[in-house]
Amino acid sequence: MFKANEAYLKLPGNYLFSEIASRVSEYCERNPDKAGRIVRLGIGDVTQPLAPAVVEALHAAVDEMAEAQSFRGYAPDLGYDFLRQAIAEHDFAARGALVYPDEVFVSDGAKSDSGNIQEIFSADARIAVCDPVYPVYVDSNVMAGRTGTYDASTGLWSDVTYMPCTQQNGFTPELPGPDADVSLIYLCFPNNPTGAVIDKPHLQAWVDYANEHGAVIVYDAAYEAYIADPMLPHSIYECNGARTCAIEIRSFSKNAGFTGTRLGYTVVPRDLKDANGVSMHGLWARRHGTKFNGAPYIVQRAGEAVYSERGRCETQAQISSYMENARIILEGLRSAGYTVSGGENAPYIWLKTPDGCSSWDFFDQLLESVQVVGTPGSGFGPSGEGYFRLTAFGTRESAQEAIRRIRAL
Ligand code: MLT
Repeated sequence: MFKANEAYLKLPGNYLFSEIASRVSEYCERNPDKAGRIVRLGIGDVTQPLAPAVVEALHAAVDEMAEAQSFRGYAPDLGYDFLRQAIAEHDFAARGALVYPDEVFVSDGAKSDSGNIQEIFSADARIAVCDPVYPVYVDSNVMAGRTGTYDASTGLWSDVTYMPCTQQNGFTPELPGPDADVSLIYLCFPNNPTGAVIDKPHLQAWVDYANEHGAVIVYDAAYEAYIADPMLPHSIYECNGARTCAIEIRSFSKNAGFTGTRLGYTVVPRDLKDANGVSMHGLWARRHGTKFNGAPYIVQRAGEAVYSERGRCETQAQISSYMENARIILEGLRSAGYTVSGGENAPYIWLKTPDGCSSWDFFDQLLESVQVVGTPGSGFGPSGEGYFRLTAFGTRESAQEAIRRIRAL
């Protein structure tokens, strides 16, 4: 008789956002009269339509696919040159960071890449993650059999190094100690879920640490477009020495509304080599070539349009509008007496639950009493207990309405 992958059996519960979705639909079944009132600020899903420049590029690419002369079959598995070049130029060269177009691996999104990247590291690589953390980093390593056992009483896995991000340290992780022996460090800035940011000297310290200790940083920069402070780094490659120790993951979901269209990329510099001189660029190319057939041509053309003058202007307007939602949520909660952070260079607002309420109890309370959906902080890790995340990606009306209802609680 066949047997399931035991590593999967270790996973406790559902994927966080699936769990939230199922609790909300269960609530709607129980309360059909309230279903229409629900304000959804849980998963960070965009609500504005694709920018006109992007839609035009999509239409034009569809027309190309309709003609024998311009039809395209399989995309190059690492991405079309037109997109890889636009990315290298606009996301990196423009910020003084050196990334070559052929170091950019185009994909169907940052979630897949951040889940898959662990495959090219050894099975005994020890991971270090922030706590709280985007659950994909940990769960994908659990699935790969890289973690030990889950302790339900602490919410922690053995064989994982956790870096608590708390109010005391401003929700920014401290460097693992000199004996931590971590080889794969996941960082995400601007941070999901706390909305915390990192300045260049601190990011440089991480790069120096990784180079000194032979570790790799997987840097998730999916939310970099929300950085308003000109002093903050958008890419880890703005730091000296990052090319020998860092992989960066980016998304078109949050900066250009591609959550349903699917496009992202990962940068693996050629200078990133393991202890035996093995090129991680070569391994990721091998993995991509074997398991991926490229993001669709029409979507890559749409991604290219994000970098056009009009595309940049139109997507920037969307980002500004989401950041106005963030301001409304942040200030509304603050003036109602909540302890809040994030939301200034990030689309997530991180609030302390009132009266020591647990994260899931607060989730239930908001859903049951005012039909507002957010994300319980403890779903991101034990240090998230007692916190709650709201997203700025809703409509203006939903941000205003959520605040009005929460204040009335
Ligand atoms: C989130 O809400 O944390 C994100 O939308 C999840 C994701 O991007 O996969």
